[in-house]
Amino acid sequence: MNALFVNACVREGSRTKRLCDAYRRKHWSGEKVDVRELEVWKEPPVPLDAARLRKRDSDIAAGDLDGEAYRYAREFARADEILIGAPYWDCSFPAVLKLYLEQICVNGITFGYGEDGRPQRLCACEKLVYITTAGGFLGAGSSVELFIRELGGLFCIPDVQFIKADGLDIRGNDPERLLREAIEGI
Ligand SMILES: Cc1cc2nc3c(=O)[nH]c(=O)nc-3n(C[C@H](O)[C@H](O)[C@H](O)COP(=O)(O)O)c2cc1C
Repeated sequence: MNALFVNACVREGSRTKRLCDAYRRKHWSGEKVDVRELEVWKEPPVPLDAARLRKRDSDIAAGDLDGEAYRYAREFARADEILIGAPYWDCSFPAVLKLYLEQICVNGITFGYGEDGRPQRLCACEKLVYITTAGGFLGAGSSVELFIRELGGLFCIPDVQFIKADGLDIRGNDPERLLREAIEGI
């Protein structure tokens, strides 16, 4: 199995990364799992500007998607399972993750539409897991969870899971206990 870990846990000693490591130990420790870890903040992808967007549109129209610019998208499309780890920042996640997502949403690689206009499944991924931790509370159906589920829908990924530990920075809470509970849940 090809597993892809998109690591957007920017901070040293990241608690989100601890949950991701627990997930990897529990679900991806077998010999048959080939894990590729992508630390997205180390080489942040460049944002799309007008020129890059034009080039991408013409490459898509020409079906010329073998270039370096689509490396992340091809890797994402190949993975059988994907874990995205990102802390809850400013009511969403670090900007580097958005830059990465912008790179991988390529019509013809990670998603597409058939002759009848219906979505086509191009990603091999069976399970997309998103792990986050938040200082405050993330209610059920938070905007981040909705966003991730919508993204999973775009890629036609059948199983999308959202795992969180929240309330970690609330005075009086015991973050270690909350993390332990989240790890037990994993
Ligand atoms: C830049 C930044 C923005 C944050 N924004 C929020 C926020 O909008 N809401 C919230 O509840 N916590 C916020 N926090 C707190 C983090 O969600 C919390 O400390 C989290 O556990 C950090 O994850 P990490 O240990 O993996 O870095 C923010 C923290 C940072 C550093």
